[in-house]
Amino acid sequence: MKLADRTDAVAPFFAMEFGKHAAALEAQGHHIIKLNIGEPDFDAPPMVVQAMHEAIDGGHTSYTAALGIPPLRKAIADFYQFSYGVTIDPSRVIVTAGASAALLLASAALVNAGDEVLVGDPSYPCNRHFMSSFGAKVKLVPTTAATRFQLNEELVREHWSARTRGLMIATPSNPTGTSVPEAELAALCQFAREKGAWRIVDEIYLGLACFKPESLAICEERRLDLAKRRDLIVAGLKRIGLDVPVIPDGAFYVYIDVSKTGLDSMEFCERALQEAHVALTPGNDFGVCSANDHVRLSYAASSGELNAAVERLAPFIQKLL
Ligand SMILES: Cc1ncc(COP(=O)(O)O)c(C=O)c1O
Repeated sequence: MKLADRTDAVAPFFAMEFGKHAAALEAQGHHIIKLNIGEPDFDAPPMVVQAMHEAIDGGHTSYTAALGIPPLRKAIADFYQFSYGVTIDPSRVIVTAGASAALLLASAALVNAGDEVLVGDPSYPCNRHFMSSFGAKVKLVPTTAATRFQLNEELVREHWSARTRGLMIATPSNPTGTSVPEAELAALCQFAREKGAWRIVDEIYLGLACFKPESLAICEERRLDLAKRRDLIVAGLKRIGLDVPVIPDGAFYVYIDVSKTGLDSMEFCERALQEAHVALTPGNDFGVCSANDHVRLSYAASSGELNAAVERLAPFIQKLL
């Protein structure tokens, strides 16, 4: 069967490839610390699980309203009012199963073939593939630690062209875990608005869909717990001689600069897996600019695992420095 030509433009997601290598090592009896995938090690809050059981037991398993059930759309609008002081009519809220579906629909609604779209490099790769699928010409804008690996107004102005029709920003970002400061986000969105361009702001890490006070309290506890894990892993990596150019402030990722080890990020991840049994993700998943120098670590793992990962990486790094 011949697949569509656009599938050739989609590179493999190395996070998953390293997941497969890790599984192969586990099958040989090795214990692998998997910090390659951005998936929290805790379940949905108990009240959310209970509500899901009740929905299934109550027979709520048939089609819902296509844009989401009205009470949920209202709960989301109320959440924005309560948390950010933003008044949003619930009719403007659309519920999807996961962020990817929303991003795909937004791309379908906004992109015309040939439209140029500015996206920061590094950034989460699927988002740009969604837009390319609808014919967008994605222009990756190199970013550095100086802007916390995010776009700012200056970069957007510099890379804007007569063909630019939109901006795609993820804040907090994957792979760096960094957010765009509110004033900066407002300024660059205002610039794009004045140009008549659209903005997609992917805030998947801002908070995950629960709205009752008891569940929100659990999420807040977990946020604080993740902040402790962040501090623990950043300190541990620095202690063993690795550079963390920007401290993450929003998502559970650390973007580590491995350039001084003399290995490129792909070699670094391969050897860290084989020699230290720690699975990481090479920067190549997220762009081209400085991708060879950086690896992503997900700290959505227990503090025990994070400490063990640092201990395992220490002798491996020592050999290289
Ligand atoms: C920045 C960003 N946007 C979107 C997604 C996709 O989210 P979902 O799994 O809800 O489709 C991810 C997942 O890793 C992500 O990191």
